[in-house]
Amino acid sequence: MTRMTTLLLAAAMLLAGAPAAQAAERAIEDKVDALLARMTLEEKVGQLHQLSGRQMTGPGSEKFADKLADIRAGKVGSMLNVKGVADTREIQALALQSRLKIPLLFSLDVIHGYQTVFPVPLGEAASWDLAAIEQSARIAAKEAAASGIHWTFAPMVDVGRDPRWGRVMEGAGEDTYLGARIATARVRGFQGERLGALDRVMATAKHFAGYGAAIAGRDYNAADMSEQQLHEVYLPPFKAALDAGVATFMNSFNTLNGVPATASSYLQRDLLKGRWQYPGFVVSDWASVKELVEHGYAADLAQAAVQAINAGSDMDMEGYAYTRHLADAVNAGRVKPAVLDDAVRRVLTKKFELGLFDDPYRFSDAAREKAVLGDPEHSRIAREVARKSLVLLKNEGSLPFRKGLTSLALIGPLADAKRDLEGGWIVQSDERRVVSLADGVRAQLAPATRLTVARGCDVACTDTQGFAAAVAAAQDAEAVLLVLGESWDMSGEAKSRADIGLPGRQAALFDALAATGKPVVVVILAGRPLVFENVADKAAAILYAWFPGAQGGNAVADVLFGAYNPSGKLPMTFPRSVGQIPISYQQYRTGRPVLDPANIVYRSAYIDAPNTPRYAFGHGLSYTSFAYSDLALSKSAMRQGDKVTLSFTLANTGARAGEEVVQLYLRDPVASVVRPLMELKGFQKLGLAPGERRRVSFEIDRDTLAFHGSRLAWVAEPGDFELMIGTASDAIRLRGKLTLLD
Ligand code: NOJ
Repeated sequence: MTRMTTLLLAAAMLLAGAPAAQAAERAIEDKVDALLARMTLEEKVGQLHQLSGRQMTGPGSEKFADKLADIRAGKVGSMLNVKGVADTREIQALALQSRLKIPLLFSLDVIHGYQTVFPVPLGEAASWDLAAIEQSARIAAKEAAASGIHWTFAPMVDVGRDPRWGRVMEGAGEDTYLGARIATARVRGFQGERLGALDRVMATAKHFAGYGAAIAGRDYNAADMSEQQLHEVYLPPFKAALDAGVATFMNSFNTLNGVPATASSYLQRDLLKGRWQYPGFVVSDWASVKELVEHGYAADLAQAAVQAINAGSDMDMEGYAYTRHLADAVNAGRVKPAVLDDAVRRVLTKKFELGLFDDPYRFSDAAREKAVLGDPEHSRIAREVARKSLVLLKNEGSLPFRKGLTSLALIGPLADAKRDLEGGWIVQSDERRVVSLADGVRAQLAPATRLTVARGCDVACTDTQGFAAAVAAAQDAEAVLLVLGESWDMSGEAKSRADIGLPGRQAALFDALAATGKPVVVVILAGRPLVFENVADKAAAILYAWFPGAQGGNAVADVLFGAYNPSGKLPMTFPRSVGQIPISYQQYRTGRPVLDPANIVYRSAYIDAPNTPRYAFGHGLSYTSFAYSDLALSKSAMRQGDKVTLSFTLANTGARAGEEVVQLYLRDPVASVVRPLMELKGFQKLGLAPGERRRVSFEIDRDTLAFHGSRLAWVAEPGDFELMIGTASDAIRLRGKLTLLD
């Protein structure tokens, strides 16, 4: 077939496909309307009630007789926390006893794997590898879908610039552009092309919106920000998820500029369902409708129900506001029937799209569950994703370890940890499936190498009793590997920390080992950036491993022994001290910039710390080196509708194959709204053989240059723009200038 025929054929299929998709959509609309016409008010309300079903099957389920009766009576539309083929079948069978036999949606927090535990999302974000991130979500979806799950509460797309906030672990870090690209990859991975495939689940863009800006990094705290900031920094990843077809949105616990997000008509009606024309439904966060009362926004649960539904929260997760009060509110005219119908229609549409009316048990097939769970291929991929997520922060030459070490002392509270490698938000911990660092290291040591393992202290250790044995082990070994960090439950929801230093006496353990004079190689496990100044100053090498998942031990060993050349880059800035937080590379300009660090008098500075972070956004080392040269622009000036290609040469100048994340940043020096010093506008992850050179290009158009101007209009203002190509936000290698003419 000629290229032309192929193109014509593809175009014809597209044209034929579009009406077919529209017809299918219309057919579902008709079915939803027909069903809606048969529903009572109570049955409609039932579709909007989501119930947690933990322990509702098996022994002890009698305690939940009332709730089980509600399911049989058609008063529940969706369940969370029921999983597995047997349990989902058992509960679905109850729903099918109801008058209209409307199937339930089974939802779960499948955040970084279902059975196969992948790195925590922040760790995956550090890979900057969109294909790997999509693949991780795809496998999580495949396993969950084989286990009766229709819907995951992921991805969390909240931008996080405050590492005290424990939930940064669940997101993609501080950057809007990176966050939006990752949101797209995750939604695609979870959902695939269209809903209904048996190896995919519905995704959720959460938490809408502003949750990542919790004041002082304290979880559930208020968020207060300018509209500019909201639209510029926090909303784009949600819009990206929407554009990728995300099936549902979850609102958030926080207030945003004084209004709880759950009751925000601005966010949910005007923006999401209005301007963005979002066709899916919005689920509340856990009891966030009820919490309108605690916020002091609703006088009671009845008012909370009215406020939330009118504001566009379609489904009430465990808040019991809709199930108790919505029917009365409709009868009393406080909620229009059309508002209720719209919410129900959105929920029913998803049930049809998933094919649940054709077969309510189609995701609950015991044979598929058995075949999919435990597929060894999934662990192989988890190891690959994990090693891509590791960030080499510092290396004075100790890594990779020399082949044929005579002896290695493996020290630290997390040296042989298993549960901690999995991190928070996992479906079910199974330590038998976890490879600890000790296991991973042991598997790659030469047989003649002597390995000594000494914990030194616990994660939150208060005493130093174990230090002596650890120091003795270090003195006795050729190389010292120290594994420090957080335990799995120190990051995540409700795990904000005011002090993000190494917990307990871990820093003292490091000092004791460093005092031996041996080069100490440090691996840090954590769900957030930590502050570890002394370690950063004195360690011979630091590998940041996040919570790398069940294959973490193998992945870390791959990097330590050189089987894999590290390629991760930081998706969040690492501060020097808590006092610098909130912190991001994307600082706004001031009238008093620090021009010379030695002169900070009346400058925007701290008198007791530099403004610079310990490790910058985008930082991450490799075992090889890369050279950047010959930046060129296809033209130096453009008009609004033009495209310009920026290109440069990247060369691997070292002796090993390696991957580099090349980063494109932009600065708009003069604008009608003051712009940040730099903004990420593009990146590519490229693998190069030793000595290989490659021409790399980025396309620049109006959108690259545009920002939210006055009244939030999306404008690209004529003038000069600085373009920067770097290996990190603080390591710019090439610069160019582009002029926008009109
Ligand atoms: C509360 C969390 O904020 C949300 O992210 C999660 O999906 C729900 N609980 C359900 O577990």
